[in-house]
Formats: sequence, C-alpha cells, structure tokens
Amino acid sequence: MSRPLRIAPSLLASDFCRLGEELARAEAAGADWHHVDVMDGHFVPNLTIGPPVVGSIKEVANIPLDVHLMIEEPAKWAEHYAQAGADVLSFHYEAAESNFEETLAAFKATGCQIGVAVNPPCGVEPLRPYLDQLDLILVMSVHAGFGGQSFMPEVLDKVRQLRSWGFRGDIEMDGGITAETAPACAEAGTNAFVAGTFLFRAPDMAAATADLRQAIEGAAVS
Ligand code: DX5
Ligand code: ZN
Repeated sequence: MSRPLRIAPSLLASDFCRLGEELARAEAAGADWHHVDVMDGHFVPNLTIGPPVVGSIKEVANIPLDVHLMIEEPAKWAEHYAQAGADVLSFHYEAAESNFEETLAAFKATGCQIGVAVNPPCGVEPLRPYLDQLDLILVMSVHAGFGGQSFMPEVLDKVRQLRSWGFRGDIEMDGGITAETAPACAEAGTNAFVAGTFLFRAPDMAAATADLRQAIEGAAVS
C-alpha cells in the first residue's frame, strides 16, 4: 500500500440527533477520519447537511474531516466548506465536467487536501492529466446518494488503472464497504475506506472497526 490506511466512518449512518456523541463513538472505535456526506438534492436525489453543520462537527472533532461533496456547481462552495473545517475536500467529476480545470483551481486555492470523486459509470481516464494535482481519488462503489447499498466489484478496475498509471495519492472507496468487501479493494490499491452502515450500525463499533482494519491489513500484506 503506497499510502497509510485510513478508515472513515460515514456519518450518514449515524444518529443525527446525537451527532456529538456519534463523533466521539467513531473516534473511540478507532476511526482515522470522519467522512461527511454533503448532498444537495440536485446532484443526488437526497439532501443532507451544509456548512453550518460541518462547522459544528469541526468544533468537537479530534480527527480530520473528510468531506464528500455530492453537489452541483462545486466550485461555488469549495471555500465555504474549507472555512467550515474540511481537511480533505472532494467534489464529483460529473458535477464539474464542463469546467473541471476552473473547479480544480478553486479547490486547490482552499489549501485543503483535494479529492475528485467518480460514480460507478464514470471512468477515471479524464483524471489522468491531473493525477499529480490530486491528493485523493474517491471511487464510488455504489451510486452516490444513499447509505446501505450493495458494493459493486466492477469499480475495482478503476483502482488498478489509477495505480498502474503511477497515482501515489490516496484512493478511497465508498459504498457497501464491509470486512468482506474491503480486502479486494485493498488488493487493488485502495488505502482509504468509507464505511457507514457496517460501522455505525454494528452492535459494537470498535469491534467492527478492528475487524475492518484487520481484514484490510491481512489483504494488503498478501
Ligand atoms: C453514499 C455516501 C456514502 C455512504 C456509505 O452516497 O457517499 O458515504 O454513506 O454508506 P454505506 O457504507 O452504508 O454504503
Ligand atoms: Zn461518501
């Protein structure tokens, strides 16, 4: 694995009424990043949280915020989410296809670690000229919009492709990640793992996090 292993529980599967306690629970369980899913009801047919909530999360979080923007016109919002406290900030390629370079420049200007996300139908070829400018590539293993969907193994080819092109940044997989699905992701070259349902809905979040880490480490060394 060319980059450190990161486990990022997705807050989408947490209890939003008790967000502070849920953040603490994820940290106590061994999370490396908090994965924060931002949806606008346009790019995806679901609506979640905006900059004020990200700001409140930042006030109590003790680990980096990995903010996944599933929104239209991401360039307009980059600075807002950076100011709110994003450490890693990702936007979708599909939402910026017509003005990708301008959007990337707006994100780079924030000083955050920058990621670009792709939904399952979107290939990674368009990202190839920009690999040296990206800190992270977020490969969706479900269609963005909702937690609790099943993992799509066909997206693993994109991870292999990115590593074969020499991409040395973080590759993050998001959607349907469990201790069963994560090892194949690690073997393909994934080093950052988002898991919502598997971690937050587990009877014991710390045990589930440890199981996931062990499954990934076991795969990576083989
Ligand atoms: C889906 C989100 C994911 C989601 C993952 O659009 O980007 O982060 O919360 O949830 P699980 O792990 O339940 O598939
Ligand atoms: Zn996500």
